[in-house]
Amino acid sequence: MSKNFDYERFYDLIAPVYGVAMRLIPVWRHYTEVVLSWLPPSGAVLEIGPGPGLLLTKLVERYSLAVGLDLSSGMLRQAQRRLRCAHLSVRLVRAEATHLPFPAGSFDGIVITFTFSAIPNGLAAMEEMARVLRAGGRLTLVDAGMPGDGNPLGTGLARLWEKFGDFMRDEAALMREAGLEVIECREFGAFNSIRLVVGRQP
Ligand SMILES: C[S@@+](CC[C@H](N)C(=O)[O-])C[C@H]1O[C@@H](n2cnc3c(N)ncnc32)[C@H](O)[C@@H]1O
Repeated sequence: MSKNFDYERFYDLIAPVYGVAMRLIPVWRHYTEVVLSWLPPSGAVLEIGPGPGLLLTKLVERYSLAVGLDLSSGMLRQAQRRLRCAHLSVRLVRAEATHLPFPAGSFDGIVITFTFSAIPNGLAAMEEMARVLRAGGRLTLVDAGMPGDGNPLGTGLARLWEKFGDFMRDEAALMREAGLEVIECREFGAFNSIRLVVGRQP
């Protein structure tokens, strides 16, 4: 995939099957739900790239205001359906992570799981997330990454993600560049190929 790849069309196409596929990978839920214990206990939260809304359902149950923002209208339809079936209502917004349609300081928490690596301009997205976080607010990110110890299986997995167009990055460095304080950065999951990074708006 190149920077000109049509991500919106791609995610629209896979939207009907993505949620089913993720439910068939039992560890996926564990990987994404790691963010929950790092979020503030109350307030307004934004999930960027909620896809079919598996994690968003939890956020809606927990927070007085939870907003899901995604590039793909197909994914947003899946999320809407899932939340409606659970008798939950949510604000869903179709937009691009590099241009968040919210005023500065709108959210106490931001969640982004397995989405940051699909955004070509990572620093622009990080700066936007930092902008819409309130002072003291937290950005919690989970994504595939290159394992720090260079273990061959984890490195192989990361190289595979790169072939599918994902960008393996130093998310902690980008968070700092966007003005956030990094309060957690750790590898976990299969061969340390998954990364949790948590930033705080000073
Ligand atoms: C791989 S899915 C991840 C879904 C879910 N967060 C998870 O952990 O399973 C990536 C999601 O991010 C969305 N996405 C990708 N690039 C985006 C962008 N630049 N702005 C907003 N959403 C984006 C896609 O439409 C898709 O719903």
